[in-house]
Order: sequence, then structure tokens, then C-alpha cells
Amino acid sequence: MNEPEHPESVWVFGYGSLIWRPDIAFHERQVARIRGWTRRFWQGSHDHRGLPHAPGRVVTLVPERGAACEGVAYRVPADLAAAAFEGLDHREKNGYQRHDVLLEFRRGGTDVGVAYIAPVGNHAFLGPAPVDEMVAQIARSAGPSGTNIDYLYDLEAALWDLAIEDAHVFELAHRLRECQAGG
Ligand code: SIN
Repeated sequence: MNEPEHPESVWVFGYGSLIWRPDIAFHERQVARIRGWTRRFWQGSHDHRGLPHAPGRVVTLVPERGAACEGVAYRVPADLAAAAFEGLDHREKNGYQRHDVLLEFRRGGTDVGVAYIAPVGNHAFLGPAPVDEMVAQIARSAGPSGTNIDYLYDLEAALWDLAIEDAHVFELAHRLRECQAGG
């Protein structure tokens, strides 16, 4: 690994809503990827895009050999890191845990960072389901942060803007659009 350019800062890696709504103070934003993980709509959301009795579906990362997940890394200066983590720990409290990751920046170079990952088997984990079942759950779910539909489309748009490919996310968004058109 290279010498960190900013040893006094912390990188926070986002791959879901943290891409388009980080809500943390940062000094720099870089597209980055982490190896060995893949983004999946396998996590239940009881507090943001669903309700306790009717959870929505949001993304987590699941380990997959040979895979890589691209997202956005935010460089948070040391004096703002405690406030950032306090806010994120609260926001990501439904099953996510901080995880140390190795970031590979699209511009080149590497550094260590922290991602919020909801591990397989956590209390809110839903796991895989047929595409149409996942889409139906997303279509009917909403919570305090908005509709689950907006979460999926906002993620799709954010990935497009950054030229990040994700067949799983794009397939779900495509199928949702077909269903909304009556298909
Ligand atoms: C993330 O964005 O990195 C975590 C998952 C989410 O909040 O959507």
C-alpha cells in the first residue's frame, strides 16, 4: 500500500445511500472500489425505507471471491471524524457494523477506510429472493426516509452518474420500471 497522503484523515466508504446522501462533513470525495465484496439488496430496512412490521429492502455488501464493489470514499478530517461516526452509527444502526476496508481509488493509489456493512445473518438480514419478489417488496415499502422505490432509483442514478456498473442494481431498477409501466 502507498503511504497515506492524509494520515490525519479517515476515509469513509459508501456504496448505498451514502453515495448520494452522505450527510457528513468531508474534505474530498473519490470513486473507489473494494475487493471481495458485492452490493446486494439483501438487507431489511425497518427504520428508513420500511417499517418495523413491513421492512423495505436496501443494500449491504456480501463477501464474494473475485468480486469488487465500486462506491464513493469521503475523506473526513480527524477533527470531524467523531461527529461523522456518531451520526453514521445512528443512521446505520439496523444491522450494519463498521468494517475496515482497503480502498483502491479510481484515480490511482490505495488507502484504508471504513465501510458500514450489515453482515450475513444479522437480525435484519433478508438474503436473496427472486427478482420479482425483491421488486414487489421495494415497490410497496416506505419509511421515515422516504419510499423504497426512490432509494433504488436514486442509487441507480448515482451509479450512472459515476459510471459505476452494477448488474444487480440495474436489473432491479429495470424490472421495477417495467412493473410500474404495467408489465
Ligand atoms: C452505505 O451507503 O454505504 C450503506 C448502506 C446504506 O445506507 O444505504
